[in-house]
Amino acid sequence: MPERPYVIDEMISAKAIAARLEELCREITAEFRDTDKLVVVGLLRGSFVFIADLVRELDLPIEVDFLEASSYGDSTESSREVRILKDLRGAIEGRDVLVVEDIVDTGYTLRHVLGLLRSRKPARMKSIALLDKPSRREVDIRADWIGFEIPDEFVVGYGIDFAQRNRNLPYIGKVRFTP
Ligand code: PRP
Repeated sequence: MPERPYVIDEMISAKAIAARLEELCREITAEFRDTDKLVVVGLLRGSFVFIADLVRELDLPIEVDFLEASSYGDSTESSREVRILKDLRGAIEGRDVLVVEDIVDTGYTLRHVLGLLRSRKPARMKSIALLDKPSRREVDIRADWIGFEIPDEFVVGYGIDFAQRNRNLPYIGKVRFTP
C-alpha cells in the first residue's frame, strides 16, 4: 500500500485509559471473585498492550493465554472472514474465561471467537473491549465491558496499528491524512 502522509492526533490519553482500566478491573474482579483461576485470553496482536495493563489491575488468580484471529491482514477493510492463525495453548472446558479485545468494529472477529470458545464449554465466559465503534457494527455482538465508545475514526496506538505501525504509542490516537 503506498504510504500517504499522515499525522496522529491524541484522542484518549494514557492517563484516561489507566483511569478507565482501574474502574473496569474493579468490576471484573467483583464478577469473578469466587474463581479458582481466571483464564485471560488476549486476541493477538492488537490486545497485547491492553492485556498487559489489564492483568496487573485484576485482584484475582489468573493465567494468560493468547489466540490470534485476523480478518484484516494489512488492509484497512474487513474481509469478514475470520481466520484463526494461532489457537489457545490450554483447554478452557469448565474454566472461567475473560476474552480481551482491543477494538470491536464490524463485530465479526469477536462473534467468531466467542462462538468458537463457547463451543469448548467454559464454565463462565465474559468479554472486554477497550474500544467500541457501534456505528460500524454489521453483526449483533457487544462485549460485556467496554472501555470507550468511539465514533468511526481511524484509530491507532496502545496496541492498535495502521499497516503494522504505531502499536507502541502509549495513547489512542486518530489518524489524520495530510495533503
Ligand atoms: C483488528 C482488531 C480486532 C478486529 C476488530 O484485528 O484487533 O481484533 O480487527 O474488527 P472487526 O470487529 O471488524 O472484526 P486485525 O485483524 O487487524 O489484527 P491485529 O489485532 O493483529 O491488528
